[in-house]
Amino acid sequence: FSSFLTDSFGRRHNYLRISLTERCNLRCQYCMPEEGVKLTPRSQLLTTEEVLTLARLFVLEGVNKIRLTGGEPLIRKDILHIIAELRKLEGLKTIAVTTNGTTLTRQLPGLQKAGLDLLNISMDSLVPAKFEFITRRKGFHKVMEGIEKAIEMGYNPVKVNCVVMRGLNEDELLDFVHLTEKKPLDVRFIEYMPFDGNRWNFKKMVSYQEMLDCIKQKWPNLEQVPGDETNTAKAFRVPGFQGQLGFITSMSEHFCGTCNRLRITADGNLKVCLFGNSEVSLRDRLRSGASEEELLHVIGAAVGRKKKQHAGMLNLSQMKNRPMILIGKGNWLL
Ligand code: GTP
Ligand code: 5AD
Ligand code: SF4
Repeated sequence: FSSFLTDSFGRRHNYLRISLTERCNLRCQYCMPEEGVKLTPRSQLLTTEEVLTLARLFVLEGVNKIRLTGGEPLIRKDILHIIAELRKLEGLKTIAVTTNGTTLTRQLPGLQKAGLDLLNISMDSLVPAKFEFITRRKGFHKVMEGIEKAIEMGYNPVKVNCVVMRGLNEDELLDFVHLTEKKPLDVRFIEYMPFDGNRWNFKKMVSYQEMLDCIKQKWPNLEQVPGDETNTAKAFRVPGFQGQLGFITSMSEHFCGTCNRLRITADGNLKVCLFGNSEVSLRDRLRSGASEEELLHVIGAAVGRKKKQHAGMLNLSQMKNRPMILIGKGNWLL
């Protein structure tokens, strides 16, 4: 495995998240401020070729899973081309997408044909009016349809991401668990995390322990499911249910010790930790004609500076970072 992708704590980074766009057709409260964000001019975003060049380089060094994120990755016009080209990379085992699901029903046949392996879909409420409040847009029925379509097309499990926020959707935990009864869904409850412009505060965060207690009151026989140590989620199952549930506990029990992720932002910065604000521009190096070896040195140096763990919930809430929409949904390394 590449020494460039191994950090000073011995963590091997074999999972790359690439943000394909800063744009999104929703305006989720936890992801961006109401007024939106200032978008990077097009000329400064990675081109298709640049995305593929970087992907090839990382795969050659040992990356075996790439997740495409955004913004909303499925609004990128060349999404099918990118997936089809990634599919040709020897050594790349898994191609995944994290999407808001609003256009899935239409796009899924093409995505599957291009070679998409895994699908994570954000869905934060099962009540249409609440969905609209949280996302500041319509789209509830389309997303539900998208989730159904993904199951129908054989994606298993389909992961459903639910960011739990006090006073907004914390009363829906049991309804989300019910969804796993008859469907091969993996519902993941995510602790609300602080990013620039999302008005996070400690009181709005519902912790893993609190969620678990609530679900155990209804299903005391909830059982833990062993999983890969690099998973973001701690997995559980209600005995007899087809699907499972999980908790992404970035705030109350970080999992930095087993982090295997790196991310590239849509404007071409390498971010070694979701919560770290140190970034290096790979785009600038590519555009100034850097050789592969020079790029690898830049990448290796950034990975080498990666911290052991994130700064802790309260420090993070005061730290300068990007809004989530400009990071590329969810990736932390620490
Ligand atoms: P899998 O590949 O299915 O394990 O996906 P994932 O859970 O890593 O990614 P997804 O895009 O579905 O994100 C789900 C949640 O996990 C989001 O809230 C992300 O912010 C969070 N997440 C993703 N990667 C990291 C990471 O490296 N560190 C931390 N702390 N959180 C992450
Ligand atoms: N806290 C927790 N999760 C978040 N996501 C976006 N912003 C936040 C936040 N502030 C999640 C989205 C998406 C995933 C990639 O990241 O729900 O499913
Ligand atoms: Fe869009 Fe996803 Fe951010 Fe919501 S969380 S605004 S769906 S990028």
